[in-house]
Amino acid sequence: MGRNPQPLNIGIGYGDIMSGKITSGLMSSLTDNWATPIEVFNELNKEFGFTLDVCASKDNHKCDRYFTVEDDGLKQVWDGVNWMNPPYGDVIPKWVKKAYETAKAGYTVVGLVPARTDTAWFQDYCMAAHEIRFIRGRLKFGGAKTSAPFPSAIIVWRPGERESQGYKYGKTLNLLRRETAGT
Ligand SMILES: C[S@@+](CC[C@H](N)C(=O)[O-])C[C@H]1O[C@@H](n2cnc3c(N)ncnc32)[C@H](O)[C@@H]1O
Repeated sequence: MGRNPQPLNIGIGYGDIMSGKITSGLMSSLTDNWATPIEVFNELNKEFGFTLDVCASKDNHKCDRYFTVEDDGLKQVWDGVNWMNPPYGDVIPKWVKKAYETAKAGYTVVGLVPARTDTAWFQDYCMAAHEIRFIRGRLKFGGAKTSAPFPSAIIVWRPGERESQGYKYGKTLNLLRRETAGT
């Protein structure tokens, strides 16, 4: 079993991030390490029995087997029962796409992602998963003192086709095209 998550112990809170006090370089290193709250992982691990943490570091991995930046998890085969709390930012679409494709290849992936329901990556790959569990309230990541400024969801990509869809896509509006907005 993995170690406890690495705390954000550099005296910076989410308020600082949101107020723009944090530079983009520091921001990306922070968001890269928004480690899963251990109680969230433990609860899911009881249910799924994870064998592979697909993106982690030696300090925050949740399974004995894990891929780091040096391995580049995106280039590996995820041939376990996979846990994925991806690095945030503009790389996230690649991770959810890989999760979706991995399930098609026969392996379960459970992901913790920001519930950005308006994004293409959420609609294309998360809404195509077998299950979405929207988390009530906001998580405190990796020992942070304050809650995250965004909602989170657990996405379960299982092997095989979905039997049914518990939700339906609405018509996607392109808000840049005024004639379709509001229809
Ligand atoms: C949000 S943290 C999650 C850490 C841990 N797996 C957890 O659940 O708490 C994302 C992790 O992905 C790692 N990471 C970033 N890019 C990666 C890549 N290309 N391959 C593997 N790991 C990567 C970061 O170093 C960071 O440790």
